[in-house]
Amino acid sequence: MSALPVRKFDAVIVGAGGSGMRASLQLAEAGLSVAVLSKVFPTRSHTVAAQGGIGASLGNMSEDSWLWHMYDTIKGSDWLGDQDAIEYMCKMAPQVVYELEHFGMPFDRNPDGTIYQRPFGGHSANFGERPVQRACAAADRTGHAMVHTLYQRNVRARTQFFVEWMALDLIRNADGDVQGVVAYEMETGDVMILQAKVTVLATGGAGRIFAASTNAFINTGDGLGMAARAGLPLEDMEFWQFHPTGVAGAGVLITEGVRGEGGILLNAQGERFMERYAPNLKDLASRDVVSRSMDQEIKEGRGVGPHKDHVLLKLDHLGPDVILKRLPSIREIALKFANVDCIKEPIPVVPTIHYQMGGIPTNVNGQVVAPKGSDPNAVVPGLYAVGECACVSVHGANRLGTNSLLDLLVFGRAAGNHIVGQNLRAQGQQALARDAGDASRARLARLDGASSGESVPEVAHEIRKTMQAHCGVFRNQQLLAEGVRQVMDLDARVARTAIGDRSRVFNTARVEALELDNLIETAKATIVSAEARRESRGAQARSDYPNRDDANWLKHTLWYRDGSRLDYKPVNLKPLSVEAFPPKARTY
Ligand code: FUM
Repeated sequence: MSALPVRKFDAVIVGAGGSGMRASLQLAEAGLSVAVLSKVFPTRSHTVAAQGGIGASLGNMSEDSWLWHMYDTIKGSDWLGDQDAIEYMCKMAPQVVYELEHFGMPFDRNPDGTIYQRPFGGHSANFGERPVQRACAAADRTGHAMVHTLYQRNVRARTQFFVEWMALDLIRNADGDVQGVVAYEMETGDVMILQAKVTVLATGGAGRIFAASTNAFINTGDGLGMAARAGLPLEDMEFWQFHPTGVAGAGVLITEGVRGEGGILLNAQGERFMERYAPNLKDLASRDVVSRSMDQEIKEGRGVGPHKDHVLLKLDHLGPDVILKRLPSIREIALKFANVDCIKEPIPVVPTIHYQMGGIPTNVNGQVVAPKGSDPNAVVPGLYAVGECACVSVHGANRLGTNSLLDLLVFGRAAGNHIVGQNLRAQGQQALARDAGDASRARLARLDGASSGESVPEVAHEIRKTMQAHCGVFRNQQLLAEGVRQVMDLDARVARTAIGDRSRVFNTARVEALELDNLIETAKATIVSAEARRESRGAQARSDYPNRDDANWLKHTLWYRDGSRLDYKPVNLKPLSVEAFPPKARTY
């Protein structure tokens, strides 16, 4: 094949959400040449949809400590989180929030000028004793304020954005070093190699493998697919968080901040049922607990509506002043997507897929790690991953609300600093292999060459339907085994997809077909890992194995695309500087 055009940078970052732009900022401010690719304009990245806040123990509302935050995060993770990474994140939290404040982030303020913090699920003082206000908020638009702040700061630092560009595949040489990506310009269909000394995957989550999701349409697991096709493992993909409050029938997020401000969940009998399931934190128990409780209420016939298929989120008692000041977007979302004015009526809500705890394995520097020979933690030279597509692992089996924005900031920054420390400017670019880019071109050629075959939207729809039905809030062997069979059949159908005559289809059809390759890898990793894990832990709730089984399953899953093979690695129970928090029963 003829050579693809090549552009060279010190660093290429795939994804312009919070983690990608936090990493690029460190690099651009250090004078490195940085290209950031994004399928959408940066301020439309999915981070923009984050609502409730950033977790950090600033102690602005009452006493707080990073150690309490660390404990809540470990407990939230159902002890699957790595305690060294969790300590690092919770300790760094105040610093990254203050940095953001100094970048100009418009946080809400207390009367004394300090950043306003609200209560959130699973956030407690003194190791679970009482709720604490730890979520640093900009109304219910915290992610929106954050991406705008980071984008403006990146423009000032001269980061180069490639807007409406999709990365297709990683380029690895014979030694396994990553040398950049093959990229596709969505408007023109042009394909180019963006060569780099360092590549950072920051592609966000992949919630679009499910039918009902709070995720944007762009969240198709592109980084996960690229990593899997490059032979790298995906970690803990069985753990997907259901957010308790998606608008019933629409999936749009209603922030946990609503319950933080005092909103409550009610069943069809008008009962505040969370008092039964979590007597201490009630509606502010961790998300997996609240979602399962809601599902239970619905299953036992106490759901609301003609189909008894949702519950109600009541917030009218907060009064219009609080709602309009602290939750203005929620009012708008409820009006638009549920046709209710939440100042007067409750919002119909249902647990909805929200966040992927697993991802591409990394260390605390954001370097991608993959077992090699006798080294279980070997670093993949030239490759980093940050944000939701990465698994460091600070979220374990269930993420604490507000730790996603925190993760983006802490590990985006850490990866940026680690890259800056490598003095890339003094290094030359390695020569590209002769076949660099051929795998991507073969994918494109197959699509363009196949004039008839499976329909991309239909196969994508089937993947979503299967994952929703077979990998939901409660799982069991029969459901999962059948789900694995169906997803493997769909894998074969993906290989037979066609988009029709190239001269008569829009590039967006090609983009959807390319995204489908990533959706299917994510779906396979998820359902195969879930079927194999015979226990209940965090977001993986198995009715046939209802208990956590630390003796056999206190370990991380690694899924490999080749043969859909699984391997496992130990959880790091040793923090960096404090006593370990040994596993114990989890109650709220
Ligand atoms: O409920 C929310 O505002 C979501 C926050 C998060 O996922 O951390």
